Amino acid sequence: MKAKNCLIFGGSGQIGKNLIRKLTKNNYRVTVVTRNIHQKSYIIKTQANAGYIDIVEANIYEEKKIRELFKKSDICINLIGILFEQKKGNTFNNIHTVFPGLLAKLCKEYNLKHFIHLSALGINDAIDSDYAKSKLEGEKQISKNFPLATILRPSLVFSQDDQLTTTFLTLLNRLPFFPLYYNGRTKFAPIHCSDLTDTIHHIISNNIYSKIIECIGPEIISFKELLQRLLQLINKRRILVPFPLPIAELSAKFFEMFPKPIITRDQLRLLKYDNISSGKYKTNSDIGMPSKRYFNDEVKKYCYMWREGGQFSTEKYNSNIDKEKKIS
Ligand SMILES: NC(=O)c1ccc[n+]([C@@H]2O[C@H](COP(=O)([O-])OP(=O)(O)OC[C@H]3O[C@@H](n4cnc5c(N)ncnc54)[C@H](OP(=O)(O)O)[C@@H]3O)[C@@H](O)[C@H]2O)c1
Repeated sequence: MKAKNCLIFGGSGQIGKNLIRKLTKNNYRVTVVTRNIHQKSYIIKTQANAGYIDIVEANIYEEKKIRELFKKSDICINLIGILFEQKKGNTFNNIHTVFPGLLAKLCKEYNLKHFIHLSALGINDAIDSDYAKSKLEGEKQISKNFPLATILRPSLVFSQDDQLTTTFLTLLNRLPFFPLYYNGRTKFAPIHCSDLTDTIHHIISNNIYSKIIECIGPEIISFKELLQRLLQLINKRRILVPFPLPIAELSAKFFEMFPKPIITRDQLRLLKYDNISSGKYKTNSDIGMPSKRYFNDEVKKYCYMWREGGQFSTEKYNSNIDKEKKIS
């Protein structure tokens, strides 16, 4: 099979790294665009065998440089996304709306076979969230400029590289209590990163052209249950405290003062809405890629560092201790 050339934006993130490994193993050649080659290239380069990967430094405003990359690409995958806005043009509008619109235009101009764009689940409902509005507007721009595009809307994506379970595990480990927003009732259908990238690989290798695909995991879990499961996995007990909305907003406003806020007021608004399949669009199961990795089974593989004893709390070490006891 002739290796197809994939152009990946945002490839240094959680989904990007996993996707690079999957695509290059399956004979695709990837070109990964990053804003900072000095900081990110060692992370990106080690995800693939030499000869299968190129790394290019560019930001979303360098259209001329990006155009050159489109000339030798068959597939474009956009994984760029932010959870909070920052200075210097890093706004939801620029990143989630204008840039995907530009990529879609270039896909049309250079006759690409596929454009896969990562959007997010639940954005139709979350009308008061700037994040959701910008993602939705981005989808519209894409559909207008390149109707062949496939838009993926994942629920929470988790893996050892995520910023979700790993951050929660750290906070649960350190804090004596943890806030429950909206009484912890918001529902999610977390999908393991590898199941999501399997879906992306399936779409491009089988030439599937479905406008919007909701990507969901095998279980529906509430926010409270998610925290309880994490606590159980690290064998800790913490008080989960329901936060009244005004207090939640006040604390989010406080966190916004930090360069990497744990939660923002916009995320708080987003958290009001369930993050599960809407029933209006196809899901990964409908295209033959049901998610098979369960939350507890997967998190168990990497959560041991947050348990008492760290690396020595794994089953591997526990069974050795048992053996030693028997010997002595
Ligand atoms: N993770 C989830 O739970 C989840 C759920 C729903 C939807 N999604 C969507 O899926 C996509 C990928 O998610 P992810 O978890 O892999 O994200 P991630 O780990 O945060 O990575 C995002 C990538 O975007 C690039 N990026 C960030 N800010 C940028 C900016 N201002 N300009 C240009 N590039 C920028 C970064 O690349 P460089 O630093 O190398 O430039 C980074 O590697 C995003 O669009 C996200 O919204 C994720």
